Amino acid sequence: MPEHVIKNIIDLPAGKCRVVHACGTEVVIFSHNGAYRAYKNECPHQGAPICGAFEARLEPQHIEPLRGRRPDIVRCPWHGWEFEIADGVSLIDPAIRLRQYPARECGDDLIITVEPD
Ligand code: FES
Repeated sequence: MPEHVIKNIIDLPAGKCRVVHACGTEVVIFSHNGAYRAYKNECPHQGAPICGAFEARLEPQHIEPLRGRRPDIVRCPWHGWEFEIADGVSLIDPAIRLRQYPARECGDDLIITVEPD
């Protein structure tokens, strides 16, 4: 599977996201709790971009802090479906999830592995 290097990922502040393109796929990178998560920038419901436009900012209302059993989430801007940032699993149906891509840090950069659709 093709690997793509995202330069200077360390410049992405915590709680924000960056949209990149790899293999013709729009990928959103979340910086969250000291780690980076890479997902296809497409909600599995009706295809909304889960992180808006290029260099979009993950607004505070799209992240819910840990409260009791409730995990940190990203909330789709169209109809409000919620997914755990950590693994992309839907809170209402664990069978539904964001498409996640492997991501690993390499110095200041992030390497993601994206399968073409
Ligand atoms: S498109 Fe995401 S909840 Fe409907």
